[in-house]
Amino acid sequence: APAGRAANEPVGSPVSREKQHTESAPTARQGESVVMARRPGGAVDRDDFAVRRRRIAPPGDGEVLIRHQVTSVDPYQLNNMRRHQQVGDIVEAGCVGVVVESNDSRAPVGTQVATYSGWTEYSTRRLAATEFADRALGDELDWIHVLGTPGVTAYVGLHDVGGVSAGWTVAVSAAAGAVGGVAVQLAKAAGARVIAIAGGSDRVRHTTDVLGADIGLDYRTDTFERDLRTAAGNGIDLFFDNVGGSLLRSTLPLLTASGKAVISGRVSAYVTDEGGPAHPGDPDTEQRTVQGFLVGDYYPTRLLPVRAELARLLEAGQLTTVVSEFEGLGSAPEAFASVFRQGSPYLGKRVVRIARDQST
Ligand SMILES: NC(=O)c1ccc[n+]([C@@H]2O[C@H](COP(=O)([O-])OP(=O)(O)OC[C@H]3O[C@@H](n4cnc5c(N)ncnc54)[C@H](OP(=O)(O)O)[C@@H]3O)[C@@H](O)[C@H]2O)c1
Repeated sequence: APAGRAANEPVGSPVSREKQHTESAPTARQGESVVMARRPGGAVDRDDFAVRRRRIAPPGDGEVLIRHQVTSVDPYQLNNMRRHQQVGDIVEAGCVGVVVESNDSRAPVGTQVATYSGWTEYSTRRLAATEFADRALGDELDWIHVLGTPGVTAYVGLHDVGGVSAGWTVAVSAAAGAVGGVAVQLAKAAGARVIAIAGGSDRVRHTTDVLGADIGLDYRTDTFERDLRTAAGNGIDLFFDNVGGSLLRSTLPLLTASGKAVISGRVSAYVTDEGGPAHPGDPDTEQRTVQGFLVGDYYPTRLLPVRAELARLLEAGQLTTVVSEFEGLGSAPEAFASVFRQGSPYLGKRVVRIARDQST
């Protein structure tokens, strides 16, 4: 990777060993996938998922066969599973992998690609131009974190939606996580004073010591609201919020008159709703701008330029990829469930390691 890397040791329960297989002739390939076994109810449950093994067909005309190295766990997957995914479908997710068979002259064997192929060892597809993941810019962990959806979300939220400016006071919630961790670093790179909010002393220390936040606050302490008021000083110019609920309610009154809350997500409400954001008619907050966004809406025009800027900052050492690796596809449900827990030990982007080498 072009820049420093902070990473936890691999964690999570190991996958059953029977999934290991030998690869001989391409047509003999078999691979595992994790499918939705039933639609999730409240909290995420291991029984919502099942591991399936299947024979992998060779790629057709213009297609490639990809062996994935890492796949992603993200809060939005819960929504997908509750709404449009069907029982038996491979769980939708981002992946980074290597082309192992190719009928596409643009993508010879060995090409690194970032796709939305799901929790699966192999996928066969036609590659879009945006799915090429240049190794010169980063390895599979860079591409799933800083150069992937979390990095682009943080950038678009801070710059395109939030208009961040040097000298501003910026607060970031879920600041030790995937999106929040990049938002903290990008706000620092933009010259802001950054207040990072996370759950637990280890996570708070990570935001200051590794990510460079000026002030780190633990929202689970009794003194949090007072500490946040003190840290805000003359007011918060931009709140990049990943959490919603009571944390958003506490922060909105601390925005400056021209301040803005950019709503990246409401992870506190995805499993059990503890009350949505303060409503627009709230007398404390009606003067302030609260704006949500979906990163996908920015992809057609902004994906490539934003990625280029993220790659530049990664190369310059102003961004660091931070990952917590879970070992094997079988650990994906546990990795996923941990996203909805407060104060977990998993820093940065949670990724599921499928394959370690780049062999074809
Ligand atoms: N707008 C978009 O297009 C877009 C795109 C991608 C992601 N997102 C959003 O970005 C947010 C962060 O996603 P991520 O993938 O980066 O996850 P993440 O921050 O790596 O993991 C989620 C973190 O949220 C915190 N959390 C969970 N439940 C909470 C609760 N009840 N109260 C307070 N904090 C809680 C936990 O951190 P602590 O223990 O430190 O609190 C947890 O580690 C999510 O809301 C997601 O939906 C939005």
